[in-house]
Amino acid sequence: MSVPRLGVGLQFNPELIGWFPFLDQPLDALEILFDSVMSPLDGPGLLSPKAIDLIGDITGKFPLIGHSNYGGDFGFDDLMRTAAARRHVPLAKKLNVNWVANHCFYSDASWSDVWSSPLQFSRAEAARVATRARALQDLYGVPLAHENAAYYRPCPGSEMPEEEFLALTLQQSGSYLHLDLHNVYANEQNHGANGYSARRFLDTIPLDRVVCIHMAGGRWIDGQYHDLHDTRVPEAVWDLLDDVLSRARPGAVILEYETEALLCDGETLDTERTTDVILADLERGRNAWDRAYGPASRRTTRSEAA
Ligand SMILES: [Fe+2]
Repeated sequence: MSVPRLGVGLQFNPELIGWFPFLDQPLDALEILFDSVMSPLDGPGLLSPKAIDLIGDITGKFPLIGHSNYGGDFGFDDLMRTAAARRHVPLAKKLNVNWVANHCFYSDASWSDVWSSPLQFSRAEAARVATRARALQDLYGVPLAHENAAYYRPCPGSEMPEEEFLALTLQQSGSYLHLDLHNVYANEQNHGANGYSARRFLDTIPLDRVVCIHMAGGRWIDGQYHDLHDTRVPEAVWDLLDDVLSRARPGAVILEYETEALLCDGETLDTERTTDVILADLERGRNAWDRAYGPASRRTTRSEAA
């Protein structure tokens, strides 16, 4: 399967819609969260009514990438009964996405508390997950890339580090990786004392299978580092990006930013300040990409050069 080289883009996060000027940005790609635009499984149609206009504005303007958080991709329901198969796959075809990323979490139709449920990093689960990944990628018909998780505790029964699990899964699945560098950073903050190493993670995963990279920020709260997507990208994560871009050739680098759902302790959203934060990190991402691959290597700069 081929992966187009797009450049630097932004996640079309529902919390930014309505105030962040997506349409004014020189984005090389836009990442759609399928769960935020699909209709419920027990309702008619494919897109939720409120998403139809939103999607109409952006589909013609930007190359699209799909992302599945709550599809039940790696849970234990029959794959053909999951939201991934019944909503995400037809959405990917309707929106003509270049590839799809999904999360390595457990969930099913009745339970989507995904963020605290990393897969069990075991040989048996690598084989099971690979079988589902291969079947799902066949349904999509475009590359399917699995995103490494930020997790608070590993799943009981895990027998190997996450990076070995991902490498083992990909050997059997024929699918791809979606590398979230802030998740790597967050895990090193929280699990470094227990042996997690960002360096070893990046040296172990098959970098030639990385289709896309996520960049984000986060915060310490009560002694735990959280992947909240609500701050500037940390310096150490930019360093990781430079390292990976020097060794891999992904199709896109995508900035993730979220806002109100994650505010705490009486914080309020400052849209002007947040817009500045997002624009500054997008610019920094473009600079990193251009340093690695040249100033006319992104979709927007290629079209200008032409
Ligand atoms: Fe991510």
